[in-house]
Amino acid sequence: MVYVPADWSRHHLDGRRFRPLGEVERSLLAQRVPAPGGGRALDVGCGTGELAVFLAEQGYAVDAVDFAEGALVRARRERRGAGRIRWLCLDIEQEGTEVLAGDGYEVITLRLVYPFLRDRTRAMRGLGARLRTGGAVVVITPVAANTPEERRNVALDEDEIELLAESWEEVERYDAEGLAVLVLRHPRTAPPAVEKPGRLGPHAVAGACAVVTDAHGRVHPAAVAGRPAVVPPRPAAEAGEPVPEQRAPGAPVSDPVRRSPRAVSRPDRRGDGSRARETA
Ligand SMILES: C[S@@+](CC[C@H](N)C(=O)[O-])C[C@H]1O[C@@H](n2cnc3c(N)ncnc32)[C@H](O)[C@@H]1O
Repeated sequence: MVYVPADWSRHHLDGRRFRPLGEVERSLLAQRVPAPGGGRALDVGCGTGELAVFLAEQGYAVDAVDFAEGALVRARRERRGAGRIRWLCLDIEQEGTEVLAGDGYEVITLRLVYPFLRDRTRAMRGLGARLRTGGAVVVITPVAANTPEERRNVALDEDEIELLAESWEEVERYDAEGLAVLVLRHPRTAPPAVEKPGRLGPHAVAGACAVVTDAHGRVHPAAVAGRPAVVPPRPAAEAGEPVPEQRAPGAPVSDPVRRSPRAVSRPDRRGDGSRARETA
């Protein structure tokens, strides 16, 4: 089901709440992304602003954005005087993001938001480009394994988490009372490989046979024998796949995946006609 801003606004204005920010989430954020002096944070899909306020209390200047005006109506009312927070009505997947800080952010958070993005890869690439050097995107999300089938659309499964992780050089994963907390640093500049372990389908095999030829254009014997060249599957560890395990809340689910950092993208400084509204 696709939710539009009006659905979210109604939800917020009806006084409904989402899962409150838990103690484990708070301590993970404080430990993994502490605020440096002059630090700036972007909270995407801020809702009524509980996380934005926490980030401000940690010392960040915060841009809290949501595309549902109803969320911001409540945030302004309920979080009055809560520190250095700009409340911005903005669809993070649309134009108008030039109202965001041109010199980037140390931390960008998406709590209970990522599963709702329409084009996740594109949105995350845009957010990654807004990180200051060494900054992190923190995605906090329900996982499918602990989520009832009828609410599956609010959660990520392990394949979706792996796909998200593949676009980052450094990935840490923690458990916060059933939520996955992913700390992502150094966005990869190239798109992730789509190669997946598993058996090739008949069309792929036929295609591979058709192109395996020798220098004279003759079909290669391996193909004739039905043995097309096949890229071996990657081991799970190389793909950064987490090992599901019972762990204490807040403990890393898997050791941080530290790949050698490549070029770190700089903040996007484009400007193309604002549609965002600041509602602080
Ligand atoms: C489930 S609520 C979570 C709110 C808050 N982050 C929390 O933890 O309580 C998801 C929020 O994301 C907002 N949202 C979803 N997609 C968005 C987008 N593309 N741009 C900005 N906000 C978005 C919705 O309006 C909604 O307020």
